[in-house]
Amino acid sequence: MEQENDFPNFPPECHSLLCKYLSKEIFDALKDKQTRYGFRLTDAIHSGVVNIDSGIGVYAGDKESYFTFAALFDPIIQDYHGFDPVDKHVSNLDPDDLDAPNPDPEGEYILSTRIRVGRNVANLPLGPAISKAQRNRLEKDLSDALMTLKGTLAGTYYPLKGMSEGIRSQLIEDHFLFKTGDRFLEAAGLNRDWPEGRGIFHNDEKTFLVWINEEDQLRIISMQQGGDIKEVFTRLTTAIGEIEKKVQFSYSQHLGYITSCPTNLGTAMRASVHIALPKLAKDMETFKAITDKYHLQIRGIHGEHSESEGGVYDISNRRRLGVTEVQCVQDMHDGVVALIEKEKSL
Ligand code: ARG
Repeated sequence: MEQENDFPNFPPECHSLLCKYLSKEIFDALKDKQTRYGFRLTDAIHSGVVNIDSGIGVYAGDKESYFTFAALFDPIIQDYHGFDPVDKHVSNLDPDDLDAPNPDPEGEYILSTRIRVGRNVANLPLGPAISKAQRNRLEKDLSDALMTLKGTLAGTYYPLKGMSEGIRSQLIEDHFLFKTGDRFLEAAGLNRDWPEGRGIFHNDEKTFLVWINEEDQLRIISMQQGGDIKEVFTRLTTAIGEIEKKVQFSYSQHLGYITSCPTNLGTAMRASVHIALPKLAKDMETFKAITDKYHLQIRGIHGEHSESEGGVYDISNRRRLGVTEVQCVQDMHDGVVALIEKEKSL
């Protein structure tokens, strides 16, 4: 990536964590460093420099980026996750530790449940710094590994390149297909060589899905209709365990699972439901008080920056780093129970 080597000029309307923490001193201390894959500070900050409306504004090119550029990443991670440079991340993917009976057995509120994790492969650059040859090779290795899955996880891999119109429209209808990355990912270098090296695997039941080479090298997804959160988590953790027999994931004792965006570090998990809360929707203050209490995030149902439609919301855990996977799902479950209780009382 070619760009200026001068301290970026952030306009006053910029509120990203990048502009909050990138002082001239830190910039000067880091600007001549690079990782073993040649990733530099200017690469890490490019997305936030060209997209001044970023919330965060930085991406890592490899695991080493988090340590080489720690003077910038540490305060951003501290601010976003409340996680200190001396803290340790602990993983727990054991469904037996999760207490999550279906909050809506009658199926009146929860339309669907989805839990995903991001994963990247050890000893390779992350998406922002990977070469075309490395990405293509990785697609082959990952899709080969997925094709060996057995039982209910068995399925088919659909590469994006050369995908037929019939398959494409079916996958869009199922809401499975991922699109070319937005301008944040574009500026981070994550759309290079699109659509080559990208694709989607799903099982025959369409309850288990893997995105290859999107924002992270793997996004492993478990989903189904209704609110059986534990079943969704159990399928996910089984699948992760099976994939891990073939692929070594990038992991750090400090930061947990390594992801290209620092918001996903740690568990790299987003556990969500689509839930109809038409009455609460008219009282956003109460709605937000509950989601804040349980560390949850409210989104629209059409992705990260979308609006709600017909009182249906996407509710998910906000915390990812410094909490276990079980805790992330527990937060979501307990918050959803509280939201349904409130909705019923209105
Ligand atoms: N880079 C964007 C920003 O700073 C998105 C950050 C979080 N979203 C994500 N998909 N990683 O606003």
